[in-house]
Amino acid sequence: MSFESKRTIVTGGASGIGLATVKLLRERGAEVMVWDVQGVDEPVDVGSDESILKALSDVDRVDALVYSAGIQTYGTAVSTSNEVWERTLMVNVTGAFKVCRAVIPKMIAAGGGSISLVGSVQSVGAVANSAAYVTSKHALLGLTRSIALDYAKAGIRCNCVCPGAIDTPMLRWSASLTDNPEATLEACAQVHPVGRLGQPEDIAGVIAFLCGEDSKFVTGTAFMADGGAMVPIGGAAFQEHGTAQAKV
Ligand SMILES: NC(=O)c1ccc[n+]([C@@H]2O[C@H](COP(=O)([O-])OP(=O)(O)OC[C@H]3O[C@@H](n4cnc5c(N)ncnc54)[C@H](O)[C@@H]3O)[C@@H](O)[C@H]2O)c1
Repeated sequence: MSFESKRTIVTGGASGIGLATVKLLRERGAEVMVWDVQGVDEPVDVGSDESILKALSDVDRVDALVYSAGIQTYGTAVSTSNEVWERTLMVNVTGAFKVCRAVIPKMIAAGGGSISLVGSVQSVGAVANSAAYVTSKHALLGLTRSIALDYAKAGIRCNCVCPGAIDTPMLRWSASLTDNPEATLEACAQVHPVGRLGQPEDIAGVIAFLCGEDSKFVTGTAFMADGGAMVPIGGAAFQEHGTAQAKV
């Protein structure tokens, strides 16, 4: 699938899933603008309207937007501070709203386009002790569906890519907060029936598919890219010790 002469924005494009996406889209011929707060010459903060509008000031049209900026935080509904709640919601969902609000008119100018918001398996399920993060990723799916519906006739598609555990700096940082990071990464790998962690390139390929013409009838989805993680009812423990073990 060629992206020759396609103009694309990738937020969070300096690391992890975003970085792999930038590389793949460039390999396929896209012109890619990387919006990140680090690792770029001109930082763009997705939480700031001013920063977004400055980055868009010379841009007349956009064909595809990938929103991969995000932060991971931990805490329950009781232990999460206002600061953590607000920062998590700001980067993970309010930023997506602000960026989409600014970019959609530039997509309409291009005659349509594709938006891929990077959600998570936590857009449709939950991990304990992650109240702000889970809320932000569920909200991102709501934004996805709203945009898909409101702009379908303008030729804009919007999908929420839902990765499982992907081996990126974010996941390694999360693991580093536990007593045994290596065991945590192995547990994350085993969440997927395919038996391994996802790689950033696994998700970049899905995003490229959603950005391109091959997915032209796909919009408003929670597009799972999770090695089957959300399939087993009751998780691995139930599959291994429950009725699936019935002797016949
Ligand atoms: N790694 C995983 O296991 C996993 C799983 C599911 C979903 N996700 C989601 O995928 C997305 C990318 O995660 P990743 O694992 O590649 O993480 P990462 O930490 O490697 O990359 C995230 C990038 O977002 C950037 N960013 C943070 N705040 C920003 C801001 N205010 N403005 C602009 N950029 C900002 C960071 O600087 C970083 O470069 C996130 O939304 C994350 O929630 C990750």
